[in-house]
Amino acid sequence: MNKIEETFENLHPSSKQLAKDARNVFPMGVTHVSRAMSPYPVYMVEGKGPKKWDVDGNEYIDYKTGHGSMILGQAHPAIVKAVKDQVEKGTHFSSGTNLEIRWAECVKNLVPSVEKMRFVSSGTEALMMAFKMARVFTGREKIVKFFGAFHGWSDTAYVTNDETDKNYGITKGTSESVINVTPYDLKNLETVLSKNDDVAAIIFQGNDIAPPEFVHGLKELSEKYSTLLVFDEVVSGFRWSKAGSQGHYGVIPDLSTFAKILAGGLPGGCVGGRAEIIDTIGEQGIRHPGTFNANPLSAASGSTALSIVAKEPIISTAHKQAERLRDGINRTLTELEIPGGAYGMSSIVMVSLGEPVDTSNPYAQPDTIEQGGRPVANAVLDHLHTAIINEGLWTHPASMILSSTHTDNDIDETVTRYRKGLQAVRKLGML
Ligand SMILES: Cc1ncc(COP(=O)(O)O)c(C=O)c1O
Repeated sequence: MNKIEETFENLHPSSKQLAKDARNVFPMGVTHVSRAMSPYPVYMVEGKGPKKWDVDGNEYIDYKTGHGSMILGQAHPAIVKAVKDQVEKGTHFSSGTNLEIRWAECVKNLVPSVEKMRFVSSGTEALMMAFKMARVFTGREKIVKFFGAFHGWSDTAYVTNDETDKNYGITKGTSESVINVTPYDLKNLETVLSKNDDVAAIIFQGNDIAPPEFVHGLKELSEKYSTLLVFDEVVSGFRWSKAGSQGHYGVIPDLSTFAKILAGGLPGGCVGGRAEIIDTIGEQGIRHPGTFNANPLSAASGSTALSIVAKEPIISTAHKQAERLRDGINRTLTELEIPGGAYGMSSIVMVSLGEPVDTSNPYAQPDTIEQGGRPVANAVLDHLHTAIINEGLWTHPASMILSSTHTDNDIDETVTRYRKGLQAVRKLGML
């Protein structure tokens, strides 16, 4: 056991026990693939604003922020009140509610391309419905997506079209209905569209670090080839701008999918867009049930969260703090003479270690990432992950998602702790 692992074990005895129990009931001992970690996961019990506490009483500054859903931080008082008030009145009425209409109006007010919408329970479901609507509306079958993009875990979203990757549990028919193309290559995309006259939709991951000319090119090509343009705004929605990534780039998609911030930290998603496409759900069209669609708790939490995002400088504050964090990490990497850089858009900070990145260009990425690679060996990142958790940072070292509750002090403290993490890995003879 190295020094980083030894410190981790000393700090997390109760998590160790829970991890043992968890392995008896969950595959890999976890309930989400990205929650698995070496030597074992940490179990959280409480959060407030940008802080979290684990079962052993350790405190963390949080940069996983509910997989990006908590832009208001943990336990925001207005959300707590809205959910508490609603839970006392009842949590499911098997009927429509006033709350769901208010929630939908909040989305419409923030995102001009959304004329109508349907609520679902997650981002994955929102994408599933978007694919289905696009197919029904256009009468075409294929979905074009970009290699490396993530759109939830439905079969269609998971088709990799990559011989080295096994499409576990996905039928041949589904695999053949998806075409994966190289990102940022409009020429190649046009070749694909001109050779396939049955493309229902092109799907773009709104939180991709894409150059503006590429995103505008998607719009032009979708119009030229009469295919729909879908923006997956599950992460970028209500974060990149009030109108998400489409607001940032000034591109109007036909359909958009939202989740995460949409429901203020509770489960929820929606697909929204042009009314005539959303109306493919109807008496003569797609049948769409779903027990927890627009459930009152998520509707109360979501409409409260979106009202706050509409009125207060939530997005700009999170963005500003992300800039401060990028600057601090970049200074640290320079001082420690580690090639790399902190980069990324909006309030998400990405870190490249081992490979430089042009930090003066807001749309720059390290080359290896564009090619789907990792700049340093996974083992280095794994050790750094453990080391920064030991320092009280709840984050993956290469990707941090901010909230509006992170203060200047939190950010400066984070930079200091990140540096200590890097130094601990360096002491192992890595980096
Ligand atoms: C871009 C994107 N789309 C879709 C999803 C799936 O959303 P969910 O986890 O709510 O099913 C995610 C989840 O992280 C995502 O990042």
